[in-house]
Amino acid sequence: MFKIKTINNIAAQGLERLPAPQFDTGPDVAQPDAILVRSADLHAVELPASVKAIGRAGAGTNNIPVALMSKRGVPVFNAPGANANAVKELVLAGLLLAARNIAPALDFVRKLDGDDRAMHEAVEAGKKKFVGMELPGRSLGVVGLGAIGVKLANAAIELGMEVWGYDPAMTVQNAWKLDARVKQALTVDELLARSQFVSLHVPLLPATRNLVNAERIRLLKPRGVVLNFAREGIVDETALVEALNENRLHAYVCDFPSNTLKGNPRVVALPHLGASTNEAEDNCAVMVAEQLRDFLLTGNVTNS
Ligand code: MLT
Repeated sequence: MFKIKTINNIAAQGLERLPAPQFDTGPDVAQPDAILVRSADLHAVELPASVKAIGRAGAGTNNIPVALMSKRGVPVFNAPGANANAVKELVLAGLLLAARNIAPALDFVRKLDGDDRAMHEAVEAGKKKFVGMELPGRSLGVVGLGAIGVKLANAAIELGMEVWGYDPAMTVQNAWKLDARVKQALTVDELLARSQFVSLHVPLLPATRNLVNAERIRLLKPRGVVLNFAREGIVDETALVEALNENRLHAYVCDFPSNTLKGNPRVVALPHLGASTNEAEDNCAVMVAEQLRDFLLTGNVTNS
């Protein structure tokens, strides 16, 4: 019997791919043959020598000590694309939220008091502050043309936006299923200079740390909006807050709260919700569980 230690709540549809009697799954499994994890950071965790494979129920693997596992010959399986639709939908929500000033408007409404008549008067007097912008004709730059970036770019085209794409590893012509109306930017700088909205869809690597820095923020068109549903660390938050406070940037929407961002009225920081839909959790758990099962039963590596 193979023992698989599950960390975080891995969706039942995935665990069903690992049925008894061949598999024993659960959080308390000792001397596991494999680990199945979502977002918990395994860098500081003692991974026993019994571990022969690790499954990450998500796209990114930066919570796993991949280099150390490679040295031990332990494959790390992930679920690229399995949550791409969920992330795309939340980025679109963020885009609309920033364009229509929904977060500060909700804050304004939350603070209203008095009777209904007083509230209505305050609404009429206060709503001018929240006049928004419409998306058709506005430009969106998408950095990273993997599964999420492509879905977002195509959706933004359908909303009537002018979309620019940049990926260090491919051209827009080579990006899988990308709408032919997406325009090619040759560098990140060019992409930023052509965009009012920019959305990041690259992993956090030494080359992408602080990719959006003080100089690059200055390149964005006026009333710029930065969307970061990729990883904390890709945006230099100190430079970003400075740009927001100096009114050089309209908003920052991200999936990672931090003390630097806390309390800033132009920031919307969500608690890592990009992949948090029932559908995405099921898709990721199933994709990774099947890879772990096949590897443990047959030794076949279908993705690592
Ligand atoms: C991912 O890398 O796909 C996400 O971080 C998944 C998650 O939210 O667990």
